[in-house]
Amino acid sequence: SYEKAWLGAALVLIVFFIATITYGTVGAGVSMVDDSGGTVDPNNLADHERFGDPGVEQVGENEYEVNVVASAFYFNPGSDQLGFDPIQVPANSTVTFYVTSSDVIHGFSVPGTNVNTMVIPGEVAELTVEFDEPDTYGLLCNEYCGYDHHNMEGTVEVV
Ligand code: CUA
Repeated sequence: SYEKAWLGAALVLIVFFIATITYGTVGAGVSMVDDSGGTVDPNNLADHERFGDPGVEQVGENEYEVNVVASAFYFNPGSDQLGFDPIQVPANSTVTFYVTSSDVIHGFSVPGTNVNTMVIPGEVAELTVEFDEPDTYGLLCNEYCGYDHHNMEGTVEVV
C-alpha cells in the first residue's frame, strides 16, 4: 500500500539523517586533531604534538618546519625575552611556519619576506618561505595585543 511505502521511505530518511549526523561528528573530531593547519586547543598546547615542544624541525633534505607559539609578549621560539632562542634555519631551504597563539590575537611578520599573518587562538597559521642566502631578519607582532605589544619581537637567522 501507499502507507507502507511512505513509512519505509521515512525510515530510510531517518537512518540517512542519523548517519549524516554521526559522520559529521566524527569528521569534526578528526579535524580537531589534524595539525596541518586547522584548529587547536589554545588551553592545551603543552599536549599538542606540534606545539608542545615548539621549534625547528627538519622534514626533508632542504625542508624545515618551524612551530611557533605566540603569547603575550613573546614568540617561542624566536624571542629572547624569557630566554627563547632565535629561529635558526639553513640557507637554501624551504621553511614552513606553523604559528598559533596561547592567549589573544597576535601578528607574525618577518619583514623582507612574504611572512605576515594574523595569529588567532585556536587556529594554526601556515606560511611557506624560501630562504636563499644567509641573513638575519626581524620578527614582529603587528597586531595590538596589550601593554607590551611594541616589545613583542624576535629574530630569524638564516645561516
Ligand atoms: Cu602580540 Cu602585539
